[in-house]
Amino acid sequence: MTQQRRPDGSLRHLLTLEGLSRGELEGLLERAQHYVRRAGSPGPRSNALAGVTVANMFTEPSTRTRVSFELAAKRLGAEVVNLEVQLSSRVKGESMLDTVFTLESLHVDVFVLRDAEVGVPAMVAANVAPHVSILSAGEAHVSHPTQGLLDALTVLQKKGRCDGLSIAIVGDIRHSRVARSACHAFRTLGATDLRIVAPPALLPESDEFPGVARSTDIARGIAGCDVVMMLRIQKERFADADIPAGDEYFREFGLNAARLAQAKPDAIVMHPQPMNRGVEIESAVADGPQSVIRLQVANGVAVRMATLEVLAAPLAARVG
Ligand code: CP
Repeated sequence: MTQQRRPDGSLRHLLTLEGLSRGELEGLLERAQHYVRRAGSPGPRSNALAGVTVANMFTEPSTRTRVSFELAAKRLGAEVVNLEVQLSSRVKGESMLDTVFTLESLHVDVFVLRDAEVGVPAMVAANVAPHVSILSAGEAHVSHPTQGLLDALTVLQKKGRCDGLSIAIVGDIRHSRVARSACHAFRTLGATDLRIVAPPALLPESDEFPGVARSTDIARGIAGCDVVMMLRIQKERFADADIPAGDEYFREFGLNAARLAQAKPDAIVMHPQPMNRGVEIESAVADGPQSVIRLQVANGVAVRMATLEVLAAPLAARVG
């Protein structure tokens, strides 16, 4: 288990949701709800991170996570730098750690990292100065903790609870950090019926997702569910797999209105995005009345404000 706590037990880094208690998740989500912005309002701000510098270092593409971390840090009064990795000295061969040490010398206090390689956030966390925090913004197929939190917040807002819910995650589970973090969050918060649905080649290894029901049939897999979460096929994470191509995939695993009717009538439809319309989900469903996909994006800022605030609290107290 990755060490992400200070000696006093408080969270210093957030690399995974594994090991966080229900109380800790609920505390983060309650704080996030405080930061939820009502439509048309300027949105809550604070100076909780005044004097703190946050660096976004993404070596994989991102729209939602990178922008929402930047907005979150700014709304907490932090200074923010966005390292354009392709324009940085990384392309001249500088190692990840040397880049991090350089930014540390420039007084960066919090690193928000996205990387395609397993173990990079933990490796960086093990090498930075004691006051520095590392926040994973997506680690390979392994973990996407703030996505798991924003997914849980969205379910709580729409269903009032996770306790006892039936939640199906459909698509490329094998390569999905979103599915892994969402399952940790939903299970810790009391969801009792978790299911993963995918073509055989996109199901995870048999020892992963313990206690989660598996299906290769979407109609059966989502039957009676409260929540249906669709996932993109992450072609960037595998060279070859025996999966149906675009149109055929949609015919076999895509979510359309007829299939959604198998879930509960008030089921919500989620997708972490980016989504491939007409491959894993049809537009009428993605934009339809049961979709909460845009709410998930909006909740990203609030969740990242709460997370930054909790991790950097001791540092902000020192510089404040
Ligand atoms: N859901 C998500 O992580 O989106 P981005 O890749 O755009 O950040």
